[in-house]
Amino acid sequence: MRTQVAIIGAGPAGLMLAHLLHLRGVESIIIEARSREYVEGRVRAGVLEQGTVDLLNETGLGERMRREGLLHHGIELGFSGKRHRIDMKELTGNAITVYGQHEVVKDLIQARIVAGREIIFEAEDVSIHGLDGSTPIVRYKKGGDAHELQCDYIAGCDGSHGVCRPSVPAGVLTTYERDYPFGWLGVLADAAPSQGELVYMNHERGFALFSMRSPSVTRLYLQCSPAEDINNWSDDRIWDELLLRLRGDDRWQPNVGRILQKGITAMRSCVTEPMQFGRLLLAGDAAHIVPPTGAKGMNLAIADVRILAKALLEYYTSGSAVLLDRYSQICLRHIWKVQRFSWWMTSMLHQFPDASPFDKRRQIAELDYVTTSLTAARSLAENYVGLPIESNDLL
Ligand code: APR
Ligand code: PHB
Repeated sequence: MRTQVAIIGAGPAGLMLAHLLHLRGVESIIIEARSREYVEGRVRAGVLEQGTVDLLNETGLGERMRREGLLHHGIELGFSGKRHRIDMKELTGNAITVYGQHEVVKDLIQARIVAGREIIFEAEDVSIHGLDGSTPIVRYKKGGDAHELQCDYIAGCDGSHGVCRPSVPAGVLTTYERDYPFGWLGVLADAAPSQGELVYMNHERGFALFSMRSPSVTRLYLQCSPAEDINNWSDDRIWDELLLRLRGDDRWQPNVGRILQKGITAMRSCVTEPMQFGRLLLAGDAAHIVPPTGAKGMNLAIADVRILAKALLEYYTSGSAVLLDRYSQICLRHIWKVQRFSWWMTSMLHQFPDASPFDKRRQIAELDYVTTSLTAARSLAENYVGLPIESNDLL
């Protein structure tokens, strides 16, 4: 088999790259380790920046998102018992849309099927070869049979535990990382959201987040220890803790309902540089992880493949690899700014086990500043709705 671009991984990065290439006539094949049901059912974050929303709309994928997505003009930050609104629309002219990542994945898979293009699900033993030559190869097995796919480029969109990044020879890549001394326990609850906007709460018992997925489903998170066992958290214990942390002086609290799903995620920041080796280009979680506090993971994955698609199109239309050669540099400039924001939001809102009384007071002062200074609030809002890719970088 042969294709122009072999894409490893059917997450938001791989699927969106395939879609953008298809719209401009570049062929690709997606190779995914899991089943379609698994990737469509994997619940993850759900905040879309304006740029991500615009891209979905411009590329014909926005129909269900416009119907089911929830447009939010602001968010709330809570501390010392009070919530404070950041009016993102007023401060930046932009907004965010709450629409689950797995809904975006479903829409992208549907578009791929309608286009009659291939996604190979449940591929086993995926490996990549010949990255420093001009015809790289992907090998995989499907139903016991071995297959080989030749291509011009391989897009490594296989997430943080994929095969692409580890296939680069030792010494070529550098990874910069930071672990946080906590995780998030997330639940989906069968309960109507008790208010229209997200609440990020700094509480002395730990961070809590109130979010939503639809007019009848609330999404909530609690800061917990990174090694926490979900079996120690009965539904009653989760609700007690959520109410303790989220209930403010005004008695507002989330509506309580049946817990539909629960899980724990570790919190990590990491960036791999460069995002390219020969004919392999890394995108999304395969190259970087952000802690979920800024809601940036999917948006960053989409930003990478937007640049990658542009660079590949330039290559296929003019034969020039100039933009492809700058792919990593262009992405990393943006990624580091988003890393900074995600780290900053995480630092401002969580309880750190080694924080001194000085640190705790400084943290509250930071929240006080950001919720009272229009300049500081605008900076938060500008990052939250999404920083643009520097336009000079794309010339
Ligand atoms: N071969 C083929 N596919 C693989 C392999 C492999 N060896 N290893 C992993 N995959 C698949 C995974 O099953 C997954 O479907 O690659 C896909 C990677 O998708 P994501 O993890 O969703 O990563 P990405 O597309 O970069 O999207 C980033 O996802 O993890 C969230 O918070 C993150 O929102 C961010 C977004
Ligand atoms: C979510 O709704 O899952 C969500 C929202 C905001 C975040 C992270 C996750 O910062």
